Amino acid sequence: MKHEADVLVIGSGIAGLSFALKVAEWGTVNIVTKKEGWESSTNYAQGGIASVLSREDSFEQHLRDTIAGGDGLCHPEVVEQVVREAPERITELVNWGVEFDRDAEDRLALGREGGHSRNRIVHVKDLTGREVERVLLALVVAHPQIQLYTDHTAIDLITEHHLDLGTGTTHCYGAYILENSTGQVHRFRARLTMLATGGAGQVYLHTTNPEIATGDGVAMAYRAGATLGNLEFMQFHPTTLYHPMAASFLITEALRGEGAVLRNKEGAEFITHPQRSLAPRDIVARAIDGEMKRTGVAHLFLDATGISREKLEQRFPHVYQQCARFGIDISHDPIPVVPAAHYMCGGVITDLQGRTSLPGLYACGEVAHTGLHGANRLASNSLLEALVLAHNASLSAREDMVSLTVIDDGIPVWDDSGTCAGEEWILIQHNLHELQTVMWDYVGIVRSRLRLERAQRRINMLGMEIRDYYRKTKVSTQLLELRNLAAIAHLIIKAAMQRTESRGLHYRHDYPERNDRQWQHDTVLQRDSDSSQL
Ligand code: FAD
Ligand code: SIN
Repeated sequence: MKHEADVLVIGSGIAGLSFALKVAEWGTVNIVTKKEGWESSTNYAQGGIASVLSREDSFEQHLRDTIAGGDGLCHPEVVEQVVREAPERITELVNWGVEFDRDAEDRLALGREGGHSRNRIVHVKDLTGREVERVLLALVVAHPQIQLYTDHTAIDLITEHHLDLGTGTTHCYGAYILENSTGQVHRFRARLTMLATGGAGQVYLHTTNPEIATGDGVAMAYRAGATLGNLEFMQFHPTTLYHPMAASFLITEALRGEGAVLRNKEGAEFITHPQRSLAPRDIVARAIDGEMKRTGVAHLFLDATGISREKLEQRFPHVYQQCARFGIDISHDPIPVVPAAHYMCGGVITDLQGRTSLPGLYACGEVAHTGLHGANRLASNSLLEALVLAHNASLSAREDMVSLTVIDDGIPVWDDSGTCAGEEWILIQHNLHELQTVMWDYVGIVRSRLRLERAQRRINMLGMEIRDYYRKTKVSTQLLELRNLAAIAHLIIKAAMQRTESRGLHYRHDYPERNDRQWQHDTVLQRDSDSSQL
Protein backbone atom coordinates (compact mmCIF):
# COMPACT_ATOMS: atom_id res chain seq x y z
CA MET A 1 0.00 0.00 0.00
CA LYS A 2 1.25 3.45 -0.91
CA HIS A 3 1.09 6.04 1.88
CA GLU A 4 0.91 9.44 0.30
CA ALA A 5 -0.92 12.70 1.04
CA ASP A 6 -0.42 16.41 0.56
CA VAL A 7 0.42 16.70 4.23
CA LEU A 8 1.78 14.26 6.81
CA VAL A 9 1.06 15.17 10.43
CA ILE A 10 3.05 13.36 13.12
CA GLY A 11 1.13 13.50 16.40
CA SER A 12 -2.51 13.70 17.45
CA GLY A 13 -2.54 16.23 20.30
CA ILE A 14 -4.04 19.71 20.04
CA ALA A 15 -1.36 20.90 17.60
CA GLY A 16 -1.57 18.01 15.14
CA LEU A 17 -5.34 17.64 15.18
CA SER A 18 -6.23 21.32 14.88
CA PHE A 19 -3.68 21.78 12.08
CA ALA A 20 -5.02 18.72 10.23
CA LEU A 21 -8.59 19.95 10.42
CA LYS A 22 -7.66 23.23 8.78
CA VAL A 23 -5.42 21.73 6.12
CA ALA A 24 -8.12 19.22 5.22
CA GLU A 25 -10.20 22.12 3.90
CA TRP A 26 -7.88 22.24 0.88
CA GLY A 27 -5.72 19.09 0.88
CA THR A 28 -5.38 15.46 1.88
CA VAL A 29 -3.86 14.60 5.25
CA ASN A 30 -2.31 11.52 6.83
CA ILE A 31 -1.92 11.64 10.63
CA VAL A 32 0.29 9.10 12.37
CA THR A 33 0.31 8.71 16.11
CA LYS A 34 2.17 6.37 18.43
CA LYS A 35 -0.69 4.96 20.46
CA GLU A 36 -4.44 5.54 20.57
CA GLY A 37 -5.60 8.75 18.92
CA TRP A 38 -6.30 10.51 22.21
CA GLU A 39 -3.05 9.62 23.98
CA SER A 40 -1.14 12.88 24.27
CA SER A 41 -0.21 15.50 26.86
CA THR A 42 -3.19 17.47 25.58
CA ASN A 43 -5.50 14.81 26.94
CA TYR A 44 -4.20 15.40 30.49
CA ALA A 45 -4.23 19.20 30.51
CA GLN A 46 -6.08 20.38 33.56
CA GLY A 47 -5.91 24.15 34.10
CA GLY A 48 -7.07 25.46 30.72
CA ILE A 49 -6.25 27.95 27.96
CA ALA A 50 -5.24 31.57 28.50
CA SER A 51 -7.07 34.30 26.60
CA VAL A 52 -8.12 37.89 27.23
CA LEU A 53 -11.90 37.66 27.45
CA SER A 54 -13.05 40.07 30.13
CA ARG A 55 -13.35 43.83 30.39
CA GLU A 56 -11.06 43.84 33.43
CA ASP A 57 -8.29 42.38 31.28
CA SER A 58 -6.35 43.63 28.24
CA PHE A 59 -4.00 42.28 25.56
CA GLU A 60 -1.27 44.54 26.98
CA GLN A 61 -1.67 42.91 30.38
CA HIS A 62 -1.47 39.35 29.00
CA LEU A 63 1.55 40.42 26.95
CA ARG A 64 3.25 41.97 29.98
CA ASP A 65 2.61 38.89 32.15
CA THR A 66 3.95 36.52 29.49
CA ILE A 67 7.07 38.61 28.95
CA ALA A 68 7.68 39.02 32.69
CA GLY A 69 7.35 35.24 33.14
CA GLY A 70 9.77 34.60 30.26
CA ASP A 71 12.56 36.46 32.08
CA GLY A 72 13.99 38.44 29.17
CA LEU A 73 13.87 35.83 26.41
CA CYS A 74 10.34 36.07 24.99
CA HIS A 75 10.14 37.31 21.41
CA PRO A 76 7.74 40.25 21.83
CA GLU A 77 6.34 40.07 18.27
CA VAL A 78 5.41 36.42 18.84
CA VAL A 79 3.80 37.14 22.20
CA GLU A 80 1.86 40.01 20.67
CA GLN A 81 0.42 37.88 17.89
CA VAL A 82 -0.42 34.87 20.02
CA VAL A 83 -2.10 36.97 22.70
CA ARG A 84 -4.15 38.98 20.20
CA GLU A 85 -5.31 35.90 18.29
CA ALA A 86 -6.34 34.00 21.41
CA PRO A 87 -10.01 35.05 21.60
CA GLU A 88 -10.59 34.05 17.97
CA ARG A 89 -9.11 30.60 18.54
CA ILE A 90 -11.19 30.08 21.69
CA THR A 91 -14.34 31.02 19.77
CA GLU A 92 -13.35 28.51 17.12
CA LEU A 93 -13.03 25.77 19.75
CA VAL A 94 -16.47 26.68 21.08
CA ASN A 95 -17.88 26.50 17.54
CA TRP A 96 -16.23 23.11 17.06
CA GLY A 97 -18.11 21.90 20.14
CA VAL A 98 -15.84 22.37 23.18
CA GLU A 99 -18.05 23.05 26.18
CA PHE A 100 -16.05 25.38 28.39
CA ASP A 101 -17.40 26.15 31.87
CA ARG A 102 -19.64 29.19 32.07
CA ASP A 103 -20.55 31.63 34.84
CA ALA A 104 -24.02 32.57 36.12
CA GLU A 105 -24.45 35.05 33.22
CA ASP A 106 -23.50 32.34 30.69
CA ARG A 107 -20.16 33.99 29.91
CA LEU A 108 -17.04 31.82 29.71
CA ALA A 109 -15.84 31.29 33.29
CA LEU A 110 -12.27 32.56 33.74
CA GLY A 111 -9.78 31.09 36.22
CA ARG A 112 -6.39 32.37 37.40
CA GLU A 113 -2.98 30.65 37.38
CA GLY A 114 0.59 31.47 38.32
CA GLY A 115 2.08 34.64 36.82
CA HIS A 116 -1.26 35.87 35.41
CA SER A 117 -2.35 39.20 36.85
CA ARG A 118 -5.97 38.73 35.73
CA ASN A 119 -8.50 35.93 35.50
CA ARG A 120 -8.13 34.72 31.92
CA ILE A 121 -8.06 30.90 31.84
CA VAL A 122 -10.97 29.18 30.09
CA HIS A 123 -11.43 25.65 31.33
CA VAL A 124 -13.62 22.59 31.49
CA LYS A 125 -13.52 21.89 35.22
CA ASP A 126 -10.03 20.38 35.72
CA LEU A 127 -10.31 18.19 32.62
CA THR A 128 -9.86 20.82 29.91
CA GLY A 129 -7.51 18.79 27.74
CA ARG A 130 -9.72 15.72 27.71
CA GLU A 131 -12.66 17.74 26.39
CA VAL A 132 -10.56 19.52 23.73
CA GLU A 133 -8.98 16.25 22.59
CA ARG A 134 -12.38 14.52 22.47
CA VAL A 135 -13.89 17.19 20.25
CA LEU A 136 -10.92 17.53 17.88
CA LEU A 137 -10.48 13.79 17.51
CA ALA A 138 -14.15 13.22 16.70
CA LEU A 139 -13.96 15.86 13.95
CA VAL A 140 -10.77 14.36 12.55
CA VAL A 141 -12.10 10.82 12.51
CA ALA A 142 -15.23 11.95 10.68
CA HIS A 143 -13.33 13.99 8.07
CA PRO A 144 -13.21 12.45 4.59
CA GLN A 145 -9.91 14.15 3.72
CA ILE A 146 -8.05 12.85 6.80
CA GLN A 147 -6.69 9.37 7.41
CA LEU A 148 -5.65 8.64 11.01
CA TYR A 149 -3.07 5.89 11.60
CA THR A 150 -2.98 4.94 15.27
CA ASP A 151 -0.19 2.76 16.70
CA HIS A 152 2.22 4.07 14.09
CA THR A 153 5.54 5.52 15.27
CA ALA A 154 7.66 7.90 13.24
CA ILE A 155 11.28 6.77 13.12
CA ASP A 156 13.01 9.42 11.03
CA LEU A 157 12.24 12.18 8.59
CA ILE A 158 13.02 11.48 4.94
CA THR A 159 15.49 13.99 3.50
CA GLU A 160 18.16 14.21 0.80
CA HIS A 161 20.26 12.13 3.13
CA HIS A 162 18.09 9.09 2.29
CA LEU A 163 17.76 10.00 -1.38
CA ASP A 164 21.46 10.34 -1.90
CA LEU A 165 20.94 13.64 -3.70
CA GLY A 166 24.16 15.29 -2.65
CA THR A 167 24.80 18.12 -0.25
CA GLY A 168 22.50 20.96 -1.40
CA THR A 169 19.62 22.30 0.69
CA THR A 170 17.96 19.63 2.79
CA HIS A 171 14.19 19.21 2.32
CA CYS A 172 11.76 16.99 4.13
CA TYR A 173 9.76 14.56 1.97
CA GLY A 174 7.87 12.64 4.66
CA ALA A 175 8.93 10.06 7.21
CA TYR A 176 9.71 6.42 7.84
CA ILE A 177 6.88 5.10 9.99
CA LEU A 178 6.80 1.90 12.03
CA GLU A 179 3.48 0.05 12.11
CA ASN A 180 3.60 -1.26 15.66
CA SER A 181 1.29 -4.24 15.21
CA THR A 182 3.25 -5.76 12.30
CA GLY A 183 6.74 -4.38 12.78
CA GLN A 184 6.70 -3.17 9.16
CA VAL A 185 8.30 0.16 8.29
CA HIS A 186 6.45 2.26 5.69
CA ARG A 187 7.49 5.28 3.68
CA PHE A 188 4.91 8.02 4.26
CA ARG A 189 5.41 10.54 1.47
CA ALA A 190 4.10 14.10 1.65
CA ARG A 191 4.73 17.49 0.17
CA LEU A 192 4.79 18.92 3.64
CA THR A 193 5.37 17.29 7.03
CA MET A 194 4.11 18.75 10.31
CA LEU A 195 5.90 17.68 13.48
CA ALA A 196 3.39 17.81 16.32
CA THR A 197 4.99 15.24 18.58
CA GLY A 198 4.75 17.13 21.88
CA GLY A 199 7.32 17.31 24.66
CA ALA A 200 10.03 15.26 26.34
CA GLY A 201 9.11 15.02 30.03
CA GLN A 202 10.00 11.32 30.01
CA VAL A 203 13.68 12.25 29.97
CA TYR A 204 13.27 12.84 33.73
CA LEU A 205 12.54 10.28 36.42
CA HIS A 206 9.55 12.23 37.73
CA THR A 207 7.24 13.89 35.22
CA THR A 208 3.63 14.87 34.74
CA ASN A 209 3.90 13.84 31.08
CA PRO A 210 2.41 10.65 29.64
CA GLU A 211 4.68 7.93 28.25
CA ILE A 212 4.48 9.25 24.68
CA ALA A 213 6.46 12.39 25.66
CA THR A 214 9.89 11.16 24.62
CA GLY A 215 11.10 14.07 22.51
CA ASP A 216 10.88 12.12 19.24
CA GLY A 217 10.17 15.19 17.14
CA VAL A 218 13.13 17.18 18.42
CA ALA A 219 15.47 14.22 17.97
CA MET A 220 14.21 13.49 14.45
CA ALA A 221 14.43 17.14 13.44
CA TYR A 222 17.96 17.44 14.77
CA ARG A 223 19.08 14.31 12.95
CA ALA A 224 17.54 15.73 9.77
CA GLY A 225 19.45 18.99 10.20
CA ALA A 226 16.80 21.40 11.56
CA THR A 227 17.81 24.12 14.01
CA LEU A 228 16.84 23.83 17.69
CA GLY A 229 16.55 26.46 20.39
CA ASN A 230 16.54 26.85 24.18
CA LEU A 231 16.50 23.20 25.20
CA GLU A 232 17.96 24.05 28.62
CA PHE A 233 14.62 25.53 29.66
CA MET A 234 12.73 22.52 31.00
CA GLN A 235 9.83 23.57 33.16
CA PHE A 236 9.20 21.77 36.45
CA HIS A 237 5.61 21.98 37.67
CA PRO A 238 5.64 22.91 41.37
CA THR A 239 2.78 20.71 42.49
CA THR A 240 2.44 17.02 41.76
CA LEU A 241 0.98 14.60 44.27
CA TYR A 242 3.58 13.00 46.52
CA HIS A 243 2.43 9.41 46.86
CA PRO A 244 4.21 6.16 45.90
CA MET A 245 1.29 5.07 43.68
CA ALA A 246 0.41 8.42 42.12
CA ALA A 247 3.13 8.68 39.39
CA SER A 248 3.55 12.47 39.59
CA PHE A 249 -0.16 13.16 39.26
CA LEU A 250 -0.58 16.88 38.54
CA ILE A 251 -2.34 19.10 41.04
CA THR A 252 -3.47 21.96 38.84
CA GLU A 253 -2.20 25.47 39.43
CA ALA A 254 -5.82 26.58 39.05
CA LEU A 255 -6.31 25.31 42.57
CA ARG A 256 -3.90 28.00 43.74
CA GLY A 257 -5.85 30.39 41.52
CA GLU A 258 -8.90 29.62 43.68
CA GLY A 259 -7.01 30.22 46.92
CA ALA A 260 -4.95 27.12 47.77
CA VAL A 261 -1.62 27.99 49.39
CA LEU A 262 1.78 26.29 49.57
CA ARG A 263 2.99 25.61 53.11
CA ASN A 264 6.02 24.01 54.71
CA LYS A 265 5.93 21.28 57.35
CA GLU A 266 5.31 23.87 60.09
CA GLY A 267 2.26 25.05 58.16
CA ALA A 268 3.86 28.40 57.24
CA GLU A 269 3.90 30.04 53.81
CA PHE A 270 7.50 30.14 52.59
CA ILE A 271 7.40 31.81 49.16
CA THR A 272 8.69 35.36 49.47
CA HIS A 273 7.80 36.59 45.96
CA PRO A 274 5.05 39.29 46.00
CA GLN A 275 2.65 36.90 44.19
CA ARG A 276 3.45 34.17 46.79
CA SER A 277 1.93 30.81 45.78
CA LEU A 278 0.82 32.32 42.46
CA ALA A 279 4.26 33.54 41.37
CA PRO A 280 5.56 32.22 38.01
CA ARG A 281 6.41 28.53 37.99
CA ASP A 282 10.19 28.77 37.88
CA ILE A 283 10.14 30.81 41.08
CA VAL A 284 7.65 28.57 42.91
CA ALA A 285 9.36 25.31 41.87
CA ARG A 286 12.76 26.64 42.95
CA ALA A 287 11.36 27.87 46.26
CA ILE A 288 9.92 24.39 46.92
CA ASP A 289 13.18 22.71 45.95
CA GLY A 290 15.12 25.09 48.24
CA GLU A 291 12.74 24.57 51.16
CA MET A 292 12.88 20.78 50.77
CA LYS A 293 16.68 20.81 50.72
CA ARG A 294 16.91 23.29 53.63
CA THR A 295 14.63 21.28 55.90
CA GLY A 296 15.39 17.78 54.57
CA VAL A 297 11.73 16.91 53.98
CA ALA A 298 10.51 14.66 51.16
CA HIS A 299 7.60 16.93 50.20
CA LEU A 300 5.74 20.13 51.08
CA PHE A 301 2.01 20.84 51.27
CA LEU A 302 -0.62 22.49 49.14
CA ASP A 303 -3.38 23.64 51.44
CA ALA A 304 -6.77 23.83 49.73
CA THR A 305 -8.75 23.55 52.95
CA GLY A 306 -9.80 27.21 52.72
CA ILE A 307 -11.94 26.31 49.67
CA SER A 308 -15.34 24.78 50.37
CA ARG A 309 -15.84 21.07 49.73
CA GLU A 310 -18.71 21.90 47.41
CA LYS A 311 -16.53 24.16 45.28
CA LEU A 312 -13.68 21.64 45.21
CA GLU A 313 -15.96 18.82 44.12
CA GLN A 314 -17.64 20.94 41.48
CA ARG A 315 -14.65 22.84 40.03
CA PHE A 316 -11.87 20.23 40.52
CA PRO A 317 -13.60 16.82 40.37
CA HIS A 318 -10.58 15.05 38.87
CA VAL A 319 -8.06 16.26 41.46
CA TYR A 320 -10.61 15.74 44.22
CA GLN A 321 -11.32 12.14 43.22
CA GLN A 322 -7.73 11.17 42.46
CA CYS A 323 -6.55 12.44 45.84
CA ALA A 324 -9.48 10.67 47.53
CA ARG A 325 -8.31 7.42 45.89
CA PHE A 326 -5.07 7.83 47.82
CA GLY A 327 -6.86 8.58 51.07
CA ILE A 328 -6.53 12.38 50.94
CA ASP A 329 -9.65 14.48 51.48
CA ILE A 330 -8.40 17.76 50.01
CA SER A 331 -11.16 19.77 51.67
CA HIS A 332 -9.78 18.64 55.00
CA ASP A 333 -6.12 17.61 54.56
CA PRO A 334 -3.23 19.55 53.05
CA ILE A 335 -2.00 17.77 49.90
CA PRO A 336 1.61 16.46 49.96
CA VAL A 337 3.30 17.85 46.83
CA VAL A 338 6.66 17.80 45.02
CA PRO A 339 7.79 19.33 41.70
CA ALA A 340 8.14 17.20 38.54
CA ALA A 341 9.29 17.80 34.95
CA HIS A 342 6.39 19.24 33.00
CA TYR A 343 7.05 21.25 29.86
CA MET A 344 9.80 21.71 27.27
CA CYS A 345 10.06 25.45 26.56
CA GLY A 346 12.65 25.01 23.80
CA GLY A 347 12.35 22.86 20.69
CA VAL A 348 12.56 23.00 16.91
CA ILE A 349 12.88 26.64 15.94
CA THR A 350 9.99 27.91 13.82
CA ASP A 351 8.77 31.23 12.56
CA LEU A 352 5.29 32.51 13.36
CA GLN A 353 3.94 30.40 10.51
CA GLY A 354 5.33 27.13 11.86
CA ARG A 355 8.12 26.82 9.27
CA THR A 356 11.33 25.20 10.50
CA SER A 357 14.75 25.73 8.92
CA LEU A 358 14.11 22.75 6.58
CA PRO A 359 11.87 23.35 3.56
CA GLY A 360 8.90 20.96 3.72
CA LEU A 361 9.15 20.56 7.49
CA TYR A 362 6.85 22.43 9.88
CA ALA A 363 6.59 22.13 13.66
CA CYS A 364 3.85 23.18 16.05
CA GLY A 365 2.89 22.75 19.70
CA GLU A 366 5.28 21.71 22.45
CA VAL A 367 7.86 20.34 19.99
CA ALA A 368 8.32 23.82 18.52
CA HIS A 369 10.24 26.81 19.77
CA THR A 370 8.53 29.96 18.55
CA GLY A 371 9.88 32.42 21.12
CA LEU A 372 6.57 32.75 22.99
CA HIS A 373 7.69 31.28 26.29
CA GLY A 374 11.20 32.65 26.66
CA ALA A 375 12.98 31.23 29.68
CA ASN A 376 9.79 30.18 31.46
CA ARG A 377 6.31 29.46 30.09
CA LEU A 378 3.33 31.03 31.74
CA ALA A 379 0.59 28.58 32.72
CA SER A 380 -2.03 27.81 30.06
CA ASN A 381 -0.09 29.56 27.30
CA SER A 382 0.88 26.21 25.77
CA LEU A 383 -2.47 25.00 24.47
CA LEU A 384 -2.99 28.55 23.25
CA GLU A 385 0.31 28.61 21.37
CA ALA A 386 -0.51 25.29 19.70
CA LEU A 387 -3.88 26.60 18.49
CA VAL A 388 -2.55 29.88 17.14
CA LEU A 389 0.47 28.38 15.42
CA ALA A 390 -1.56 25.52 13.93
CA HIS A 391 -3.88 28.12 12.45
CA ASN A 392 -1.03 30.24 11.06
CA ALA A 393 0.77 27.17 9.75
CA SER A 394 -2.32 25.98 7.90
CA LEU A 395 -2.37 29.29 6.01
CA SER A 396 1.32 29.31 5.13
CA ALA A 397 1.27 25.59 4.26
CA ARG A 398 -1.31 26.30 1.60
CA GLU A 399 0.99 28.87 0.03
CA ASP A 400 4.13 26.76 0.38
CA MET A 401 2.49 23.71 -1.19
CA VAL A 402 2.85 25.33 -4.60
CA SER A 403 6.61 24.98 -4.54
CA LEU A 404 6.81 21.61 -2.74
CA THR A 405 6.65 18.25 -4.46
CA VAL A 406 6.03 14.66 -3.46
CA ILE A 407 9.07 12.57 -4.31
CA ASP A 408 7.79 9.37 -5.80
CA ASP A 409 10.94 7.54 -6.76
CA GLY A 410 14.23 7.11 -5.09
CA ILE A 411 13.15 6.82 -1.46
CA PRO A 412 14.75 3.55 -0.42
CA VAL A 413 12.72 0.99 1.51
CA TRP A 414 13.66 0.61 5.16
CA ASP A 415 16.72 -1.57 5.39
CA ASP A 416 16.96 -3.67 8.54
CA SER A 417 19.14 -6.41 7.13
CA GLY A 418 21.61 -7.67 9.68
CA THR A 419 19.39 -6.81 12.64
CA CYS A 420 17.57 -9.29 14.83
CA ALA A 421 14.73 -9.22 17.32
CA GLY A 422 15.73 -7.62 20.64
CA GLU A 423 16.50 -10.32 23.15
CA GLU A 424 17.92 -8.47 26.10
CA TRP A 425 14.91 -6.20 26.57
CA ILE A 426 15.67 -5.84 30.24
CA LEU A 427 18.87 -3.98 29.32
CA ILE A 428 16.79 -1.32 27.61
CA GLN A 429 14.67 -0.93 30.71
CA HIS A 430 17.81 -0.47 32.78
CA ASN A 431 19.20 2.07 30.31
CA LEU A 432 15.97 4.06 30.46
CA HIS A 433 15.86 4.15 34.24
CA GLU A 434 19.52 5.12 34.44
CA LEU A 435 19.08 7.91 31.91
CA GLN A 436 16.04 9.34 33.70
CA THR A 437 17.81 9.16 37.06
CA VAL A 438 20.93 10.93 35.77
CA MET A 439 18.82 13.73 34.32
CA TRP A 440 16.78 14.05 37.51
CA ASP A 441 19.81 14.08 39.78
CA TYR A 442 22.14 16.35 37.79
CA VAL A 443 20.12 18.34 35.24
CA GLY A 444 17.11 19.26 37.36
CA ILE A 445 15.90 22.47 38.99
CA VAL A 446 19.39 23.43 40.21
CA ARG A 447 22.45 22.85 38.00
CA SER A 448 26.19 23.50 38.00
CA ARG A 449 29.16 22.78 35.73
CA LEU A 450 30.19 19.90 37.95
CA ARG A 451 26.74 18.30 37.81
CA LEU A 452 26.34 18.87 34.09
CA GLU A 453 29.75 17.36 33.32
CA ARG A 454 28.93 14.35 35.44
CA ALA A 455 25.62 13.95 33.60
CA GLN A 456 27.33 14.37 30.24
CA ARG A 457 29.82 11.58 30.92
CA ARG A 458 27.08 9.18 31.95
CA ILE A 459 24.70 10.09 29.12
CA ASN A 460 27.48 9.72 26.55
CA MET A 461 28.22 6.24 27.82
CA LEU A 462 24.54 5.27 27.79
CA GLY A 463 24.17 6.81 24.34
CA MET A 464 26.94 4.59 22.98
CA GLU A 465 25.32 1.45 24.40
CA ILE A 466 21.90 2.43 23.05
CA ARG A 467 23.22 3.22 19.57
CA ASP A 468 25.05 -0.05 19.46
CA TYR A 469 21.87 -1.92 20.42
CA TYR A 470 19.86 0.14 17.90
CA ARG A 471 22.17 -0.84 15.02
CA LYS A 472 21.83 -4.54 15.77
CA THR A 473 18.13 -4.76 16.63
CA LYS A 474 14.85 -4.59 14.74
CA VAL A 475 13.12 -1.31 15.55
CA SER A 476 10.36 -1.14 18.13
CA THR A 477 8.66 1.91 19.63
CA GLN A 478 10.43 1.43 22.97
CA LEU A 479 13.82 1.26 21.32
CA LEU A 480 13.11 4.31 19.17
CA GLU A 481 11.98 6.22 22.24
CA LEU A 482 15.08 5.28 24.18
CA ARG A 483 17.29 6.35 21.29
CA ASN A 484 15.45 9.69 21.12
CA LEU A 485 15.59 10.21 24.89
CA ALA A 486 19.36 9.71 24.81
CA ALA A 487 19.55 12.34 22.07
CA ILE A 488 17.35 14.78 23.98
CA ALA A 489 19.32 14.29 27.19
CA HIS A 490 22.54 14.98 25.31
CA LEU A 491 21.08 18.14 23.76
CA ILE A 492 19.59 19.48 27.02
CA ILE A 493 22.94 19.07 28.74
CA LYS A 494 24.77 20.69 25.86
CA ALA A 495 22.46 23.71 25.93
CA ALA A 496 22.61 23.92 29.74
CA MET A 497 26.41 23.92 29.67
CA GLN A 498 26.46 26.71 27.13
CA ARG A 499 24.24 29.02 29.17
CA THR A 500 26.58 30.33 31.85
CA GLU A 501 24.00 32.34 33.80
CA SER A 502 20.79 31.79 35.74
CA ARG A 503 17.60 32.82 34.00
CA GLY A 504 14.03 31.63 34.22
CA LEU A 505 13.93 27.86 34.54
CA HIS A 506 17.68 27.45 34.12
CA TYR A 507 19.33 27.96 37.50
CA ARG A 508 23.08 27.34 37.91
CA HIS A 509 24.52 27.77 41.37
CA ASP A 510 27.96 28.44 39.83
CA TYR A 511 26.42 31.33 37.84
CA PRO A 512 23.58 32.50 40.12
CA GLU A 513 22.94 35.83 38.36
CA ARG A 514 21.24 36.82 35.15
CA ASN A 515 23.76 38.13 32.64
CA ASP A 516 21.88 40.40 30.24
CA ARG A 517 25.00 41.70 28.54
CA GLN A 518 26.20 38.30 27.51
CA TRP A 519 23.09 36.19 27.33
CA GLN A 520 19.92 37.93 26.24
CA HIS A 521 19.47 35.54 23.33
CA ASP A 522 18.37 31.98 22.59
CA THR A 523 20.68 28.98 22.77
CA VAL A 524 20.80 27.61 19.24
CA LEU A 525 21.89 24.05 18.46
CA GLN A 526 22.60 22.74 15.02
CA ARG A 527 23.60 19.37 13.71
CA ASP A 528 27.35 19.05 13.96
CA SER A 529 29.98 16.38 13.66
CA ASP A 530 28.70 14.53 16.73
CA SER A 531 25.08 14.53 15.56
CA SER A 532 25.61 11.26 13.72
CA GLN A 533 26.01 9.93 17.23
CA LEU A 534 22.39 10.79 17.99
P1 FAD B 1 0.78 16.33 22.62
O1 FAD B 1 -0.58 16.70 23.07
O2 FAD B 1 1.69 15.75 23.63
O3 FAD B 1 0.64 15.32 21.42
C1 FAD B 1 1.80 14.71 20.88
C2 FAD B 1 1.35 13.61 19.95
O4 FAD B 1 2.45 13.13 19.20
C3 FAD B 1 0.78 12.40 20.66
O5 FAD B 1 -0.35 11.97 19.92
C4 FAD B 1 1.88 11.36 20.54
O6 FAD B 1 1.45 10.04 20.57
C5 FAD B 1 2.45 11.73 19.20
N1 FAD B 1 3.82 11.29 18.96
C6 FAD B 1 4.94 11.58 19.66
N2 FAD B 1 6.01 11.01 19.10
C7 FAD B 1 5.57 10.34 18.01
C8 FAD B 1 6.19 9.54 17.03
N3 FAD B 1 7.51 9.28 17.03
N4 FAD B 1 5.42 8.98 16.06
C9 FAD B 1 4.09 9.19 16.03
N5 FAD B 1 3.44 9.95 16.94
C10 FAD B 1 4.18 10.52 17.91
N6 FAD B 1 -0.88 23.43 28.93
C11 FAD B 1 -1.80 24.41 28.96
O7 FAD B 1 -1.73 25.37 28.18
N7 FAD B 1 -2.81 24.36 29.88
C12 FAD B 1 -2.95 23.34 30.76
O8 FAD B 1 -3.89 23.30 31.53
C13 FAD B 1 -1.98 22.30 30.75
N8 FAD B 1 -2.04 21.28 31.63
C14 FAD B 1 -1.17 20.23 31.50
C15 FAD B 1 -1.30 19.12 32.34
C16 FAD B 1 -0.48 18.02 32.15
C17 FAD B 1 -0.63 16.82 33.06
C18 FAD B 1 0.51 18.02 31.14
C19 FAD B 1 1.39 16.84 30.92
C20 FAD B 1 0.67 19.14 30.34
C21 FAD B 1 -0.17 20.25 30.52
N9 FAD B 1 -0.04 21.37 29.70
C22 FAD B 1 -0.96 22.38 29.77
C23 FAD B 1 0.90 21.38 28.59
C24 FAD B 1 0.12 21.00 27.31
O9 FAD B 1 -0.85 20.02 27.62
C25 FAD B 1 1.02 20.47 26.23
O10 FAD B 1 2.11 21.32 26.04
C26 FAD B 1 0.23 20.38 24.92
O11 FAD B 1 -0.90 19.58 25.11
C27 FAD B 1 1.10 19.84 23.83
O12 FAD B 1 0.30 19.61 22.71
P2 FAD B 1 0.96 18.97 21.43
O13 FAD B 1 -0.14 18.77 20.46
O14 FAD B 1 2.12 19.75 21.05
O15 FAD B 1 1.53 17.56 21.95
C1 SIN C 1 -1.92 23.19 35.46
O1 SIN C 1 -3.12 22.98 35.34
O2 SIN C 1 -1.36 23.49 36.53
C2 SIN C 1 -1.05 23.07 34.26
C3 SIN C 1 -1.22 24.26 33.43
C4 SIN C 1 -0.13 24.38 32.42
O3 SIN C 1 0.85 23.63 32.42
O4 SIN C 1 -0.22 25.31 31.60
